[in-house]
Amino acid sequence: MALRIKERIERKFGEEIRFIRGMMDKPKTVGAIVPTSSVTARKMASVINPASGLPVLELGPGTGVITRAILERGVPPEKLHAIEYSEDFLPPLIDRFPGVDFIHGDAFHLERTLAHLGDQKFDAVISGLPLLNFPMHQRVSLLESLLDRLPEGRPVVQFSYGPVSPIVAQPDRYRIQHFDFIVRNIPPAQIWLYRRP
Ligand SMILES: C[S@@+](CC[C@H](N)C(=O)[O-])C[C@H]1O[C@@H](n2cnc3c(N)ncnc32)[C@H](O)[C@@H]1O
Repeated sequence: MALRIKERIERKFGEEIRFIRGMMDKPKTVGAIVPTSSVTARKMASVINPASGLPVLELGPGTGVITRAILERGVPPEKLHAIEYSEDFLPPLIDRFPGVDFIHGDAFHLERTLAHLGDQKFDAVISGLPLLNFPMHQRVSLLESLLDRLPEGRPVVQFSYGPVSPIVAQPDRYRIQHFDFIVRNIPPAQIWLYRRP
């Protein structure tokens, strides 16, 4: 029992250190000072419908807080595909979450990064990308290509630290829903859902 608690503390501590190191090396890519809280991660994952039978796409898993919440939601590991840009984060992810398809690549080049999956559709996209660090035209074009991979009505889920949606409104193209405001996150985070109208 004491050993399990020690392992958990060491793992948590290791996650924080890896994250801070990533933030210092690539501040624009990592875009956060600490990993997302488990409360935020669980809320984002709550949108997934594991009964759909479709796989889930995660963007920017980092140290795996949201990955864990997605698996705990009932998604089998082989039905989770996760794109991570920073290769430093990948070995511990592959170690901790066997069976998940971790893809080293750029989420902004979706066709190339997901080439091995053909035109596979997903139940939902759960994104931890630091969108505010990218120009608006890239955010919009990423959202459009993600929505093309979802059945009608299924959402792209995104958290953000700003007070407004990180993607500009275009009501004829997609609908934006403010899903939650999580105070128990550093800094407090907003969760946004995007769907085709
Ligand atoms: C704000 S951190 C979030 C990490 C983790 N999901 C969490 O919530 O704690 C952003 C993550 O997105 C990754 N990332 C940034 N740009 C990316 C890109 N273009 N494609 C894929 N991953 C990217 C970073 O390496 C980092 O792991």
